[in-house]
Amino acid sequence: MTLEEKAGQLNMVASFRAVTGPGEIQEVDESIRLGRVGSLLNIWGREEVVRVQRIALEESRLGIPLLLCHDIIHGHRTIFPTPLAEACSFNPALWEQTAHAAAQEARAEGVALTFAPMLDIARDARWGRMVEGPGEDTWLAAQIGAAKTRGFQGKDLNFTTSLAATAKHFGAYGAVTAGREYASADVSERTLLEVYLPPFAAAIAAGVAAIMPAFNDIAGLPMTANAHLLKDILRQRLGFKGVVISDYNAVAELLNHGVAQDLFEAAVLAFNSGVDIDMTSNAFINALPLAVDRGRVSLHEIDSSVRRVLHLKERLGLFDNPYPRDPSPSKIVKKDQDLHRSLARQAAQESIVLLTNKDQLLPLQETLTHLAMIGPFADDAAAMLGSWASAGHEEKTVSFFEGVRTALPNCHLELIAGVDAIKEDISEISHALEACREAQVILLCLGETAEMSGEAASRTDIGAPGAQRALAEAIFNLGKPVIVLLTSGRPLAAPWLFERADAVLATWQLGSEAGHALADILFGAVNPTGRLPISWPRAVGQAPIYYNQRATGRPTEIGVHYSSCYIDMLATPQFPFGHGLSYSLFSLLEFSCLTPLVKRGGCVEVGVRLRNNGSRSGEATLFFFIRDLVASVARPVLELKGVKKVILAQGQEEQVSFSLAVEELAFIGRELDMTLEAGRFEIFVGQSADPAGLLKQSFDLSL
Ligand code: BGC
Repeated sequence: MTLEEKAGQLNMVASFRAVTGPGEIQEVDESIRLGRVGSLLNIWGREEVVRVQRIALEESRLGIPLLLCHDIIHGHRTIFPTPLAEACSFNPALWEQTAHAAAQEARAEGVALTFAPMLDIARDARWGRMVEGPGEDTWLAAQIGAAKTRGFQGKDLNFTTSLAATAKHFGAYGAVTAGREYASADVSERTLLEVYLPPFAAAIAAGVAAIMPAFNDIAGLPMTANAHLLKDILRQRLGFKGVVISDYNAVAELLNHGVAQDLFEAAVLAFNSGVDIDMTSNAFINALPLAVDRGRVSLHEIDSSVRRVLHLKERLGLFDNPYPRDPSPSKIVKKDQDLHRSLARQAAQESIVLLTNKDQLLPLQETLTHLAMIGPFADDAAAMLGSWASAGHEEKTVSFFEGVRTALPNCHLELIAGVDAIKEDISEISHALEACREAQVILLCLGETAEMSGEAASRTDIGAPGAQRALAEAIFNLGKPVIVLLTSGRPLAAPWLFERADAVLATWQLGSEAGHALADILFGAVNPTGRLPISWPRAVGQAPIYYNQRATGRPTEIGVHYSSCYIDMLATPQFPFGHGLSYSLFSLLEFSCLTPLVKRGGCVEVGVRLRNNGSRSGEATLFFFIRDLVASVARPVLELKGVKKVILAQGQEEQVSFSLAVEELAFIGRELDMTLEAGRFEIFVGQSADPAGLLKQSFDLSL
């Protein structure tokens, strides 16, 4: 290979489809022919894929197939709930299955690599990208990182149903200052190692093929130029052997960050810092050959990067056949589509979180004769898709209205938006009230549009936008039973709503089967199981908010002067991490620890009696937390270490056991390495992180 052909393998350009940033769209065909392009993004579909691969194979000198990439974030054709929504399922098998279904659909259309899973811990709901990720908790994010990697990649990347996965955005993107998109983060090495990086470590352990550094800087070092994190930590400490792909135009943006004076310097800096592939900056292709000549970049390093890229193409089987594999006989395709639709319905059911349910208003009786569906999201299929719907179709998406209509064909349904999702106009509210006149129950559909979360969608006000509150207050004043369905990419801070609504369901952005899944929950065909992967704030001023905090030197009781709280609001969330009601009612009886003293290599064993006191069978979710009471570095008051889901029939009681390996008690010590320290620990079980609902036991670790 010539040096230029090598640089070509490290060059990713955008196809002619929609782009996700301000990069330059190039005349790709000629560049492919010249061997100046190794990968393309935003491309799928048989015709286009065959066309570009044919140029690469038949018209370029070396005939190396292209790596075709696309953001398959929560589905390709079949759209699953957004990642934040799906995190609510606390169900690794489901996370894996939906990733696998998405991979199957995308690979069939020629895509070979996805820029997912997104594993950014997000604790500040102002940041719009919270929707794309796993929520606030490191343990949970690590489970998701591993499950998604397994799901996308399958047993072998060479399978026609596998996609190479990219864990992103390496560093601490979720820690952007004040939740403002692309902003600086300033987090300590300890916090990186303890909070932000373990999900990436889990994805790496599961064999993730690629890593994407974040756009933003950490304490002045943009991640695209952060050799310490990309080399010392990612390669050395975490042992990553795959490909590092820059984010969109991020190499060129090193100029805007103010750490490189021109594109040549930006390319040298990014490459020497550990980036293998330059996404759309057009920097590596032009600069790297020259940089080798000038002795600024080593040829050996270029060869290593190129080898990693070629090895990935080989593992994907692209050298054998880079074309979309022949479509299966239509019967099989149809069967897969049906399976994916039912998986999307299951995923949506498991993503819905029942936040409140006063007087057990839900589930509704199927014998209802008159319902009103009010609000801007009552019949908005596009909003169900979220901000990364890839090749999903609005026309194939079931809106709430459609779902309810199908479930209750004989019920009279009134449908009216009443207000726009965003505008302040209140002129139609009176019509909405009119439409509610005969209704026995009102379904009020509030929230955010798909564009209000996701990339470049930070908000300073995280409540219901526009005139939605005015509509809601007017509806509540009717005095009828009101169930609120919240469509959003983030938790919406609206204490007034939780106070007045009879029931509230967090319905996030549920994907293709949104309406059917909603109806399943509303009318009780399915008992809700979703649990919050974030602490739901009462007000934007509480952000960042998360359960896994350290104690302070002062108390946290409100009303006690010099205590660590706010003088104008509780410091606790509206709903704690893990919150989510069921139509069943579970209670935790005795909690016991069978291992009062544990040693290295051993296990902490606990057991809890769980009872279903409700009137129907259901699935309980139990969260197990620990606290290390005294350590050389202060530890959080609660750390999630495991989750168990248990199905119990009405009135059933069961003993649930949980075992935790002693090694899981290790933490990042004073010298920033994993440390196990002797001493007393507490272990808790509860149905959320709410301290009031936790049962506690203690044990000692002796070394
Ligand atoms: C986003 C990435 C995405 C990339 C390619 C960027 O703007 O930050 O998450 O993978 O675009 O579409």
